[in-house]
This record gives sequence, structure tokens and C-alpha cells, in this order.
Amino acid sequence: MKKRYKIPLWIVGVLVVGVIALRFVISHDSPCEAAPALAADKPTMKGWVHRCYGGPESVTYEDLEKPVPADGEVIVKVRAASVNPLDWHYMRGKPYVMRLMGSGVGKPTDPFLGVDFAGVVESVGKSVTRFKPGDEVFGGRSGSFSEYVRVKASRNIVVKPLNVSFEEAAAAPVAAITALQALRDSGRVKAGDKVLINGASGGVGTYGVQIAKALGAEVTAVCSGRNVDLVKSLGADHVIDYTKENLTQGSTRYDVIVDNVVTHDLGDYGKVLSEGGRFVIVGSLNDGAYLGPVADVIEAAAYDPFVSQSFGFMTSEMKPEDLATLRDMLAEGTIESAIDRTYKMSEVPEALRYVETGRARGKVVVVME
Ligand SMILES: NC(=O)c1ccc[n+]([C@@H]2O[C@H](COP(=O)([O-])OP(=O)(O)OC[C@H]3O[C@@H](n4cnc5c(N)ncnc54)[C@H](OP(=O)(O)O)[C@@H]3O)[C@@H](O)[C@H]2O)c1
Repeated sequence: MKKRYKIPLWIVGVLVVGVIALRFVISHDSPCEAAPALAADKPTMKGWVHRCYGGPESVTYEDLEKPVPADGEVIVKVRAASVNPLDWHYMRGKPYVMRLMGSGVGKPTDPFLGVDFAGVVESVGKSVTRFKPGDEVFGGRSGSFSEYVRVKASRNIVVKPLNVSFEEAAAAPVAAITALQALRDSGRVKAGDKVLINGASGGVGTYGVQIAKALGAEVTAVCSGRNVDLVKSLGADHVIDYTKENLTQGSTRYDVIVDNVVTHDLGDYGKVLSEGGRFVIVGSLNDGAYLGPVADVIEAAAYDPFVSQSFGFMTSEMKPEDLATLRDMLAEGTIESAIDRTYKMSEVPEALRYVETGRARGKVVVVME
């Protein structure tokens, strides 16, 4: 074979072997590790952890070291937590691409489960002035499926309004901040805009309908028939039952589409998006093992330069100022938490199993016994 053919063949060969090796490495699940020994003289607490990737049966309710506050930190006794799809994605380490993005190759980098919490400040570290023991608070921090959670006082924790229950507050952080940022920041929704929310009856969608209304939009919610009354009760002006109607075949043109499920081709969405309209991917039903929803994100990024409308995705970021906005909206009654089911803390695997079905109606909350 001529030398000028050999070099490209070698490069292709190395790439193919590299991709096969990478696929093997990122899809490999290491066996579950034993819990580390606890110091006999230190206080303990109960909490849910995952020491390997797997289904709800792989998570364990263990004795863990009770956190103590360092300088600038707050320890919160958790009264309620809520479950998000991200919890089961981290539990399974799927799609596998997330293992390369920090969740851990082979086994989880962070064994703690749960993010959203509401509870009572138990102790504060040096230099903390914003909170004191006894304050009722809520926010987001890894490890909320535990008796206590440790949070930086300057980060994602705010005082809970007294007229909002622990359950309602715990339901909100991840889902409501995602809805807020998708509509206000990525969608740039303004009063009078026609907004469509696909997947309107889940966690993000139920807050999304209410936040879009609060921004002054005319809201169309897409959900299955059993959830039509729910989204109407939250303020949706129009409802499309996706089991009967195809949202891409209507005559209305939307200024913004926020999509939690991506159930149609991008070209079809374009037909019901106004000139200059914005399509914002929040999540997707794509369950491909390696890329999952990331495949839709790549497709949107590739499609966007060729059309006059904007096709993109958003990744929410918990920010103290947005938590404060939510706190005010909850306190004023501008938004409420639509709670589907409540589980006891000892039932976290069942709660994860239910959210993983993708059929939750609003939020699933876990309460401390
Ligand atoms: N980008 C980010 O930063 C970010 C942040 C949070 C969440 N997410 C993602 O966003 C997505 C939604 O999150 P979530 O918390 O709202 O999830 P969820 O609570 O599990 O929402 C499930 C909802 O999806 C609806 N659904 C299922 N199939 C549908 C279809 N074919 N058409 C329309 N709706 C359908 C279900 O309604 P029916 O039972 O009526 O079908 C259910 O109410 C998830 O994929 C999540 O991972 C992304």
C-alpha cells in the first residue's frame, strides 16, 4: 500500500479504537463500595447515598457523619425535600455523557442524593449574619435526602415565607428556577407574547405556566388529557391535549416555545414559531444511553444557523437572586407548588421510581418523619 494511504488509514483506525474504548469506559459501572467507617466520637445522621450507579434499589439509607458548620456555612435540619429528574439521572449515571461532565466515570463522584430542601437552621458558622438558628429556610444543595444539609450562607438558601409550607417551598428550587430562567432569560418573554409550553404538567411545566402568566404572556400548555384541568387551574389560557392534537399543526404562531420533552422535529416546530421566535429546549424524552437529551441539543445547535428563528437550549443555574425572586412569588401567591405525591424520607427509592416514570403531575415531595 502506498504511504500516502497508510497515514489516513492509521488515523481512522486510532479514532475507531478510541471511540470504542471511550464507549466501554464511560458505560462501565463499578461495583458498589462499602460505606466508610464512622468515627465513634462524632454525631451521626441518616441520609440517602449512592455508592455505585444503578436503579432505585441501589441507593442506601445510611448512618453518615452529621455536618458541622465551617466559617460562612449554615446547617439546616431538613423538613422536606423534592425529587427532580436530575436525581435519577445522577443515580443511574445516564446518559453516560454526564459521567464525563463531572458525575463520575465508573462510580458517582458525589455519593449524596437530592438537591431541593426546606427546613430549619440548626447552627451557623463564624461570620454568618444572614441566618440564625430557628430560621425557616429553603434552597438547593447536594445531599437534601438527609436529615441535615450543609449550605454556604452566601449561596443557594433564602428565608422561607411563613405563609408557605415546608413542602411547597421544597418543591420549588430546581424546577421553578429552571422555568424562570427558560422563560425570562432564554425566551425573553414579554407581556403580550404568545408562549407555548410543551410538557406543561410536570415540575418545570407547572411553574412555567404560572411564571409565563406572571410575565404577561398568553399561555398555551401541552399535556395529556388527564392533566388538562391541572394546567388550566394554574392559569393556562389554552390547552393542547397531545393525545388528540398535534401542536405543530395548529394555526397559532408562538413567539416562544419552551420544550421540556421535544416530541417533534425541529422543522415542524419552526412552522408554528413566529418570525424571529425562540425555541428553548429545557429537557427531552430522548433516552439514548450515551447522549440522551444532549443529542437534541446538538441537533438544535446545528439547525439554528440555517433558520430565521432561534433554536437553542438552556441549562439552569441556581442563583441566590433567583431563589429570592421565587420566594417573593411564593409569598405573594404569584406561583404555587402543584404537589402530586408526598413520600416519607424512608421511601426515597419509591419517590425516585415514580419520578423516573415521567408521569408526575407537578412535583413529588419527600417529608422527614
Ligand atoms: N435544562 C435544565 O437545566 C433542566 C432543569 C430541570 C429539568 N430539566 C429537564 O426538563 C425535563 C422536565 O423536567 P420536569 O421536572 O418537569 O420533569 P417531570 O416532572 O418528570 O415532567 C414529566 C411531565 O412530562 C410530561 N410528558 C410526558 N410525555 C409527554 C409528551 N409526549 N408530550 C408532552 N408532555 C409529556 C408528563 O405529562 P403527561 O403525564 O401529561 O404526559 C409529565 O407531567 C426533564 O427532562 C428534566 O431532566 C432540565
